[in-house]
Amino acid sequence: MSQRGDRAPVRIDQFFAGLGARGDQWRNLVELAEAWCDGSGSRASFEAALAEITPTEEFHAYPGLHLLTALRDQAAANEARATATLVRRITRALLTRSFRQHATDWDAHEDGEAATADVLPPSLGRSEAHQPYFEVLVVTGAPAARWLALAAEWRRLRRSQDAFIYEPVFVGSFEDAFCAAILNPDLAAAIIHEGFPFRSRRDAPILRPLAEAVRKRERVGGMPLDLAQTLKRVRPELDLYLLANGDVEALAGSPEARALRRVFYAVEELLELHLAILEGVQDRYDTPFFDNLKKYAQRPIGTFHALPIARGKSVFKSDWIRDMGEFYGPTLFLAESSATTGGLDSLLEPTGNIKKAQEMAARAFGADHVFFVTNGTSTSNKMAVQALLAPGDIAIVDRNCHKSHHYGMVLSGAQPLYVEAFPMTEYSMYGAVPLRTIKQALLNLKAEGRLQRAKMVDLTNCTFDGHIYNTRRVMEECLAIKPDLIFLWDEAWFGFARFSPFLRPRTAMGAASDIETWIKDPRSVAEYEKQQAELGAKPSTELLLSTRLIPDPRKVKLRVYQTNSTHKSMSALRQGSMLLVKDVEFHSVEAQFHEAVFTHASTSPNQQLIASLDVARRQMELEGYGLVHNAIEVALAIRQAVKEHPLISKYFHVLGADQMVPGEYRHSGFTDYLDPKSNWAVVRRSMHEDEFCLDPTRMTLVCGTAGFDGTQFKGLLANRYNVQLNKTSRNSVLLQSNINNTRSDVAHLIRVLVEISMEIDQRLAQGGANVRSAFNARVKSLMTDVPDLPNFSHFHAAFRKDAGKRTNEGDIRSGFYAAYDAEGCEYIRLADPEIDRRLKHGPDLVSANFVIPYPPGFPIMVPGQVITQETIDFMRKLDVKEIHGYDAAEGLKLVRADALAKRVGPAPKRAA
Ligand SMILES: Cc1ncc(COP(=O)(O)O)c(C=O)c1O
Repeated sequence: MSQRGDRAPVRIDQFFAGLGARGDQWRNLVELAEAWCDGSGSRASFEAALAEITPTEEFHAYPGLHLLTALRDQAAANEARATATLVRRITRALLTRSFRQHATDWDAHEDGEAATADVLPPSLGRSEAHQPYFEVLVVTGAPAARWLALAAEWRRLRRSQDAFIYEPVFVGSFEDAFCAAILNPDLAAAIIHEGFPFRSRRDAPILRPLAEAVRKRERVGGMPLDLAQTLKRVRPELDLYLLANGDVEALAGSPEARALRRVFYAVEELLELHLAILEGVQDRYDTPFFDNLKKYAQRPIGTFHALPIARGKSVFKSDWIRDMGEFYGPTLFLAESSATTGGLDSLLEPTGNIKKAQEMAARAFGADHVFFVTNGTSTSNKMAVQALLAPGDIAIVDRNCHKSHHYGMVLSGAQPLYVEAFPMTEYSMYGAVPLRTIKQALLNLKAEGRLQRAKMVDLTNCTFDGHIYNTRRVMEECLAIKPDLIFLWDEAWFGFARFSPFLRPRTAMGAASDIETWIKDPRSVAEYEKQQAELGAKPSTELLLSTRLIPDPRKVKLRVYQTNSTHKSMSALRQGSMLLVKDVEFHSVEAQFHEAVFTHASTSPNQQLIASLDVARRQMELEGYGLVHNAIEVALAIRQAVKEHPLISKYFHVLGADQMVPGEYRHSGFTDYLDPKSNWAVVRRSMHEDEFCLDPTRMTLVCGTAGFDGTQFKGLLANRYNVQLNKTSRNSVLLQSNINNTRSDVAHLIRVLVEISMEIDQRLAQGGANVRSAFNARVKSLMTDVPDLPNFSHFHAAFRKDAGKRTNEGDIRSGFYAAYDAEGCEYIRLADPEIDRRLKHGPDLVSANFVIPYPPGFPIMVPGQVITQETIDFMRKLDVKEIHGYDAAEGLKLVRADALAKRVGPAPKRAA
């Protein structure tokens, strides 16, 4: 697609205009230079485009000041051909990232004639071994004219034995440092000198208020420390070094200096700083378990244990299964082991490198502790529920959550108090649970004097379809009602969000860290007391529901748990999951956690899974920021392409934030990422204020309007086009972008959608009236004849013996085991009129098990639940084949009325 100046220029502060946009800008420059060469363009347009990108290019080491100046000089000298050659080379080096290894890419002249030590990174291309490359931000008050010379000084520090190679990037102000941290994903460290101004030399109308807003929050004392806090907030993984001129000892001892890795006295040896930078990156690069596994695999080890596949001899010597060895390669078998010693460690009782790897993961994900789990988040959830809840405890649970939570309640004997997400009936899916509903449940428990039994709030963030909670607000308001509540956030899909400054505050750990800071702030008590005075001694329930409640910071016990399927959004092997802990009371449940690990973890955990968790952490700490940025860009590119393509948009659309999140939950007024008015500041406001936001990487593509149901469309994409999708609904499919996607994937998907749209178009044009009316009828059936989503009804009285009147919790465990009594159960087929008779005249139909249709994937019945007309209507309308817990031939499994009566016991005698 041509960009020759006929497209609006990309501003530096356009929302998420990141790496991809940068590549486009350089390709655009190539086109302009070539047009100038062949006479169809002009030098002026090339120079204008170059001038436009220069401010943001200065935030990157490559092409850098030297090559940018060379480019400008060549253009000024009217050298069209030389300019085109150079801009082509730079663009190629940028797109292939070859500048990280090839010294010649840094040279303005193709023949390499002017390679001086001042310009070229000396060890690029020289080293035999691959040296990973990163960039270091240097924030300085030194005049820009000196930056080239200063960069040369930095390069002279390089030694061939350095494990990594880096390039400095100089900026001269707070604002520029902030922009560079946002725009340059290659940064791994920042050096902050004292003595630089706040304002940039450049203009950035949208970034400016954003930088100011962030600084306001972080204003802790002096520009360098403010900047350090701000950079930590945007990119917590960056190592920060302060070069101070004055009283370094006092500075290093101040609490605000915690954001810094080290404070140096400015006039000291630069070599020390250089070594510190390398050591800091090495700290993130180390993968204690993986490193040891690699060493272990190299050792000649004789095995006399029960893992014959280890070392691969039985595989490679076999005539019959050698292909498996060839497929996976020998390393896999060398790395297979059942050992927990000799350089390895035990996942069940880690004391060595797994323990270390878990501690590093805790640092990376902002937790106090991390448990590695090798059987998916299904297991992490069950572990957390088992460890934190005891029989009879009440947990407020999203009824629409993953089944592992429901099974966790069965295992633990805790009583789920189900709360409902807002329905999105037209797409046969649920949103997320409104905070008002959660508060109402807590206030009901309080009114009945049973609040002390409520131990946990258990929610999914983000939901399968991308609804992100305002985690901080949910926790604060719930803590205002019960200050020691435990929060379990199922972030199966959302682990990557830690590495985006926009999404991080909405993660469990991001919000927990903000609440922790708030608790420590002396102003918080006054804030709380002011609200208490306003609420008065006996606030009405309505007032409590409609007020944004502030908890008492002196009473709050912050207890936050998060589970994430590392394998779903990072580079971990399937089933790799983490359980994150930030709990001031963890010491009181630690033993229970060990029991939960012993209950659920295999005694033969897979070494490769553990290693991949270790490596996934390394990657996210070193390049997660750029990768996540890319995943978001890819998603926005897909959303944009589907919306703008004249043919695709006739039949398909991706639901925007405004369609996924009803207006009442978007107070900031944010509509969608594609809205031309959406920029960083607008998105940040929405992320800060709105009750729910949409994860841009989760795209609900409506296909019912093209005449496909979700399952059908998923099959078509997989079988005919090799495109794999996430989940489906009656009339939509869920596309998900991740850190693995490229712009080529976007191109492939769009091409496929064009092809399918063309086919529909042709079929409708050529098929005549009958085909068109059949198509319209199908679309109508998929888009409007949608079944109402059934709410959770209630548990039968047999399973609510100790329940209150206003809340719906129940003893799901007894309900579950009722199914084990074959005599006490019966089956009735869905179509049997007996169902309708019982619904009308009783006795109650009570489900004996979980019934979970896929899609949509939530339990429409749980054990012990009374089945209602809505549930039966929904089931009868469902046209899906896969329904877990339901066998169409046998019918619904129900607990018999007489078995229920026995459980309820005799009716209480009436008083005479
Ligand atoms: C919200 C949620 N939690 C947990 C899980 C289970 O995760 P895993 O597949 O890692 O066991 C899923 C799986 O789809 C899920 O959607």
